[in-house]
Amino acid sequence: MGDPIRLVVDGVEIEASPGQTILEAAEAAGIYIPRLCHKKGLEPFGSCRVCTVIANGRFQSACTQPVAEGMVVENDTEKLLAIRRDIIEMLLVEGNHFCMFCEKSGNCELQALAYRFGITAPEYPYLWPEREVDASHPDVFLDRNRCILCGRCVRASRDLDGKHAFDFVGRGVSRRIAVNAEGKLAETTAAVTDRAVEACPVGALLPKRVGFQVPIGKRLYDVEPIGSEIERRGGRP
Ligand code: SF4
Ligand code: FES
Repeated sequence: MGDPIRLVVDGVEIEASPGQTILEAAEAAGIYIPRLCHKKGLEPFGSCRVCTVIANGRFQSACTQPVAEGMVVENDTEKLLAIRRDIIEMLLVEGNHFCMFCEKSGNCELQALAYRFGITAPEYPYLWPEREVDASHPDVFLDRNRCILCGRCVRASRDLDGKHAFDFVGRGVSRRIAVNAEGKLAETTAAVTDRAVEACPVGALLPKRVGFQVPIGKRLYDVEPIGSEIERRGGRP
């Protein structure tokens, strides 16, 4: 490993290892940079832009941008918080996220980010798109209404499960998650134990027959806001 790299995040000097991304270095130092398409253990994807920071005066996605000696990073500023809030609001209105009925409620990263950013009702109009639900698999639901196209299932299935069960098809507003079969999810080799199912940050991929097992008040993000475990590590409140 090479010499440590020093950079400044929100006015705090931190040390990073060569090859780390801004997000990884900040996280190791106890600074939370919000993220959605990023998941530890998966190849960085850089699609959601929730992790947008300003590094040396330029907008960058913190999950893909490597650290550099002397880099100055802005993360927790009004301007960046407003950009991230807008991205989260847009994700909420362009899908059909009925949080109160969703089995992922309380454990959903999109919902948790909305709460962290103080979003109670999005300012943008809901688009109410028509999306297909695939309930064919005996143990796993694929509900595209809640899919935010983060690609975590695609990368997890490909790189961790070795199955290529999911991929993207279409472009622009027609882009959607597809399964590697002529027909439905049941015709793939996907299994409920796959890392791809666990990797979904929202309720688009859900194991069947286990919903609502944890009572309200005890779910993951009922207990503390998303990112708290990282901030605690840095000794911040
Ligand atoms: Fe992401 Fe889940 Fe959609 Fe896959 S199904 S792209 S993990 S939101
Ligand atoms: Fe960095 Fe999605 S978390 S672009």
